[in-house]
This record gives sequence, structure tokens and C-alpha cells, in this order.
Amino acid sequence: MELIRLDKLLSQALLLSRSDAKKKLRDSQVSINGKVCKNADVKVNPSVDVISVSGQTIVYQKHVYIMLHKPAGVVSASKDPNEKTVVDLVPAEIRRKGLFPAGRLDKDTTGFVLITDDGDFAHRILAPGKHVPKTYRVTLTRAASETEIAELADGPVLDDEKLLPVAVQVICEEDFIYSVVLMEGRYHQIKRMFAKQGNPVVALHRTQMGNLPLDPALQPGACKVLSAEELAQITAK
Ligand code: URA
Repeated sequence: MELIRLDKLLSQALLLSRSDAKKKLRDSQVSINGKVCKNADVKVNPSVDVISVSGQTIVYQKHVYIMLHKPAGVVSASKDPNEKTVVDLVPAEIRRKGLFPAGRLDKDTTGFVLITDDGDFAHRILAPGKHVPKTYRVTLTRAASETEIAELADGPVLDDEKLLPVAVQVICEEDFIYSVVLMEGRYHQIKRMFAKQGNPVVALHRTQMGNLPLDPALQPGACKVLSAEELAQITAK
């Protein structure tokens, strides 16, 4: 593992601002391999050096995985000159360099977006052939017929290409609300699939990635850092 500045490691591991991390150092609360260290510039190797704060050994995570409840009106990008992005919504205490959304939702789509700085993990859940299911709550213009649902279960055809089967279940037929599970994520797939059936999407919300549901305690615009157990649910079969 590469070397990392001590104040950076403290702020990432303890979700502190850099100045609060420096204060802990000034206050002699931090030790490296049992020796008090007050110097923020010192570089440490987290896989070899034992860093303690007030006597507690800290666990450093190389990467961070953040569940965001994306509100409407925000773009799925790291940076945008004109629009607010999903990464702009990550609070300063958990923000790091290199964060990006692992997968995109349209500007008007709401729900679960995973934000991370781990490119390999993003590749594992997004690459064609990986087939991590994504579940959406879809509100349609009218009720979907059994034939239309069966057509999607057989595999929708978009741009002359037959796609992987899409599971559709009724949530509330009266209000035209359905659960839709995609095994791949083609450009505007859900909107295009239903538009092709003459049944435009009225509202779209991602409720789950793999086996991990969006935390119902997260209000639109809020996010939380995922635990290792939660992260594992994304790829669990
Ligand atoms: N399908 C869409 O059409 N839009 C999304 O945002 C996600 C899936």
C-alpha cells in the first residue's frame, strides 16, 4: 500500500476535517507504532504502521463507498460547469479526491446512486456481463398489459438488439406503479423500453442495487458511508 500523509489518513478514517485531524495531532492524541506524533506531514504506510488515536487503533480504508439518495434535478457526474452533480451532494467530512458515481441515473430519476473512488469495484458492478441487478420503482402512464410484461420478461428489443430479460412486477396497478429489475443498464433503457410500448414513464426511482436496498432513513439529497457488510450485499448472489 502506498504512503499517505498522517493528517489525511486521520481525516479519512475518522471522518474529520483536515483541521480537526491536525488538532488531534497538536493535542498529542495520535501515536504511530506506540510513539506520540504531532507532525501532520509525516507519511505512514497504513498496512504496516499502527496508528492510534487516544489509545484506539484506527482502521484505514483505502476506498470509500457512499449510498446517495439522489434527488431529481441533479446530474450523475463528478463535475459539471452548469449543473449540480451527485458528487456535489457528498458532505465535506466524507468527501475525497477521485469520487465518481458508479453508474448513472437520468437527471429526473431519483433514488440509489453509489459514489466511490474505487474504479475496480465500479467496473465489477457495471461491466457488461457482470449482471448486478438494479431495481427500480417505475410509474407508467397507464397499466402495463400481461402481454407487454411478458415481452419484457422475454427480453426487450432496443435498436434492433435483444436485451437481457427484464422482470416486471405490479406494485400498485391502480396507480400504474411497477417494480422493474434490469440486469444491464443501457442508455435510458427503462424510458425507451416503455416508450416503445406506447406507455411513457412518468416517474423513475432506483430502489436497490444487487441485494442492497436504498436506506429508507435517507432523505432525498442525503448520503451515508456503506459498511463492508452493506457493500458485500451489492454483489451477493
Ligand atoms: N433507465 C432510464 O431510462 N433512466 C434511468 O435513469 C435509469 C434507467
